[in-house]
Amino acid sequence: MLAQLPPLQMPLETHGGYGEVWKRVYSGIPRGVVIEKAAEKTAVLARQRPGWIVFEGRAEQVIGSGVLRGLGVDFIDCDPYGSPWGVLTAALGSIDGPLIGVVVNDGMRQRLRIKQGWTSKALAEEVLRYGNERLFADYLEVCREKLGGLLAAAGFDLAWWAGYYTGHNHDMTHYGAVGVRRDPPDGPGAGAAGWGSPREGGDADPS
Ligand SMILES: C[S@@+](CC[C@H](N)C(=O)[O-])C[C@H]1O[C@@H](n2cnc3c(N)ncnc32)[C@H](O)[C@@H]1O
Repeated sequence: MLAQLPPLQMPLETHGGYGEVWKRVYSGIPRGVVIEKAAEKTAVLARQRPGWIVFEGRAEQVIGSGVLRGLGVDFIDCDPYGSPWGVLTAALGSIDGPLIGVVVNDGMRQRLRIKQGWTSKALAEEVLRYGNERLFADYLEVCREKLGGLLAAAGFDLAWWAGYYTGHNHDMTHYGAVGVRRDPPDGPGAGAAGWGSPREGGDADPS
């Protein structure tokens, strides 16, 4: 997916950890934004990537305070231990450019397996619509629909999607999407060349 996108200008890592993904994927990108709630980890992140903006706090609150506006974030890497939905909702509402790439390492299926989907506020609508069992069985499709809906609400068309289950018991769900702004400020398709029509995906590695 990254190889197909224009070079990233300002990736956002919503859950920085100790920067393991950065070491493998983003270390060549001079600017970016990383959020992490644990102070001992933000200290490592700040030393690791001097050109990046490092926020310490809960990602939902940091993003909700409006700090991303105007930064030109063009890529979101969301790697929480559990649900990504609160953070994705906040982050996608803060994107102002013509194109956005999103990759997610989603741990919700562990909770869905034991029929605890109803404990997630973010999935309340889906629990009612599909029921716990179908939500677990068809979670990847639910993610596509939900992420597509968040992109649409933020003014983007879903131009590309891929996803798969992985990890122990297939409890992790990996997916990626590209959204193209419906009416970009600099004319149709500005900055979004090559991301025209929606395409199906199911087994490609989105990272
Ligand atoms: C799966 S790890 C991320 C690993 C990271 N992607 C890496 O490359 O090393 C999840 C991280 O999110 C942090 N975290 C958990 N909830 C958070 C929240 N609400 N906001 C920001 N960080 C959070 C945890 O402290 C943990 O470091």
